[in-house]
Amino acid sequence: MTERNTVAAPLPTLRDVMAAQVVVRRYLPPTPLHRYPVLDALLDAEVYIKHENYQPIGAFKVRGGINFMARLPAAERARGVVTASTGNHGQSIAYAARLFGVRAVIVVPEGANPVKVEAMRSYGAEVVLHGADFEASKRYCAELEEEEGLRFISSGDEPLLVAGVGTHTLEILEAQPDVDVIIVPIGGGSGAAGASLVAKSVNPLITVIGVGAAGAPAAFLTWQTRAFRSAPIDTFAGGLATGEPFMLPQRILWQYLDDFTLVGDDEMRVAVRLLLEKAKTLAEPAGAAPLAAALRLREDVRGKKIALILSGGNISPDELRQCLDAPIPTF
Ligand SMILES: Cc1ncc(COP(=O)(O)O)c(C=O)c1O
Repeated sequence: MTERNTVAAPLPTLRDVMAAQVVVRRYLPPTPLHRYPVLDALLDAEVYIKHENYQPIGAFKVRGGINFMARLPAAERARGVVTASTGNHGQSIAYAARLFGVRAVIVVPEGANPVKVEAMRSYGAEVVLHGADFEASKRYCAELEEEEGLRFISSGDEPLLVAGVGTHTLEILEAQPDVDVIIVPIGGGSGAAGASLVAKSVNPLITVIGVGAAGAPAAFLTWQTRAFRSAPIDTFAGGLATGEPFMLPQRILWQYLDDFTLVGDDEMRVAVRLLLEKAKTLAEPAGAAPLAAALRLREDVRGKKIALILSGGNISPDELRQCLDAPIPTF
């Protein structure tokens, strides 16, 4: 796999996110930022849900894919691209590749969410099922890059992806400039890197909290220790199931992220169910993680104006069934 020096690479800036917004707006209208009185009551706070589940692929990642593909040099567009994904990143690349007429090969772990795999194929991507987990799929990308001359796209270490996804937070700040707290899910960290760099560059007083899966703590451990730490994966939240951290978003998170909390699968199941019942909206486990974190941090967010980035809604019927069966604790 082509080594890119993510340690020395310049970090994306607010200016890059603003430039990305010009591109992204051509293809995607801003997503709604809705308020639901029942969620306000649940958290005793002013709660805004950023509906990235309403994106055409059902997840925020499409912002990054479009920004990336729009700026890909013609020679690389002609070669085609290859990437590994547990789902939404792959959909984003597939969707953007179709928009710009680029060949896309997506390597997904065997046993990946079939809803996401079907969607990638429907956008015209070549989907290769390979490897037991994301890390194994990533390794296989290196072979395809070499054999077929494709341009490898890292799902985390690409400045254009980070700048693209950060546009969700620009939209939040345009609509609610005086937000106190933003809670954003973390898998590889690109979404939270974009969110925190935008929020802190615009107003350092905004608190940005990342939330990961307790069953996949690599990004958390790397953020906490400021050193590369891999960790096993045992979570049903596909979007948060990262076993090895990405250092480009980590460097941004080290600079800008205020806090990082982990939630269990049970908490995410409850949050999926609550979002369905109280906000009538479908979240996948990663997308519901910010609500799970807010419930856990209720004392800290009480009385504040908080934005929860509902990052995606691509849940499989089996996962949804599990969530609907989750007993709701008394809060
Ligand atoms: C729905 C959803 N939420 C959150 C994440 C985590 O995003 P990131 O990898 O940018 O941290 C992902 C990643 O694929 C996702 O699909």
